[in-house]
Amino acid sequence: MGYTIPKGVDLVLNSLALHYDSDVYKNPNCFDPNNFLSPDGSVLRPHNFFSFGIGRRMCIAAPVSKNYLYLTVTSFLQNFQFLPIPDRVYSDTPADFVEFFYLSQPYEVLVKLREAKT
Ligand code: HEM
Repeated sequence: MGYTIPKGVDLVLNSLALHYDSDVYKNPNCFDPNNFLSPDGSVLRPHNFFSFGIGRRMCIAAPVSKNYLYLTVTSFLQNFQFLPIPDRVYSDTPADFVEFFYLSQPYEVLVKLREAKT
């Protein structure tokens, strides 16, 4: 890329710029699964998605965390329905930047136990 990086310089991944890049994500400011889906419904793997960091200091627990997240989310979706609360008006309120983190706004939903299939 043509950059000269002097020895000993600390490099910090600009996670915010990467993951809010509107050239890559259709709707970067919202929790929108379409950010990761192509028009035919197949899963996209954006080239600049580094939620666990990159390089020698990336998260050591990335493989186990990905499996854990998968199992947690799929268990919730298998057992519960997550529905909008009737008559509740939802808005795409942006997250609050607090200290060093973006914190999402409270988002209440109706959680219903799925009926067991016999
Ligand atoms: C979804 C869950 C997790 C996410 C998104 C996540 C994300 C990250 C990120 C972005 C970094 C910084 C990488 C960098 O500096 O470039 C990191 C570092 C680290 N994470 Fe995680 N992490 C997760 C879960 C965990 C868990 C469960 C553990 C331990 C049980 C863990 C242990 C660590 C450690 C020790 C580092 C520092 C690695 C180093 O500096 O060499 N992480 N993680």
